[in-house]
Amino acid sequence: AKYTWVEKDTCIACGACGATAPDIYDYDDEGLAEVIYESDANRGVTEIPDDLFDDLQDACDGCPTDSIKIADVPFNKEG
Ligand code: F3S
Repeated sequence: AKYTWVEKDTCIACGACGATAPDIYDYDDEGLAEVIYESDANRGVTEIPDDLFDDLQDACDGCPTDSIKIADVPFNKEG
């Protein structure tokens, strides 16, 4: 299983992740990325399905500030 979360404190709203993985990431009112998959709301608790793993990894690799976090266990963040 994979879980993901965006560290908004370091996101610079570059916009790459939502273009690469639109099913996983979108942007808040300030243009900062967040996980929108199902009802995750950037908590990092929603299991990302296998068929999105390539998008997930590409988005992580493409983020210029390493703000996209991926782990095998839930993050349990709040927003
Ligand atoms: Fe932010 Fe990185 Fe996405 S800077 S907009 S999390 S690619």
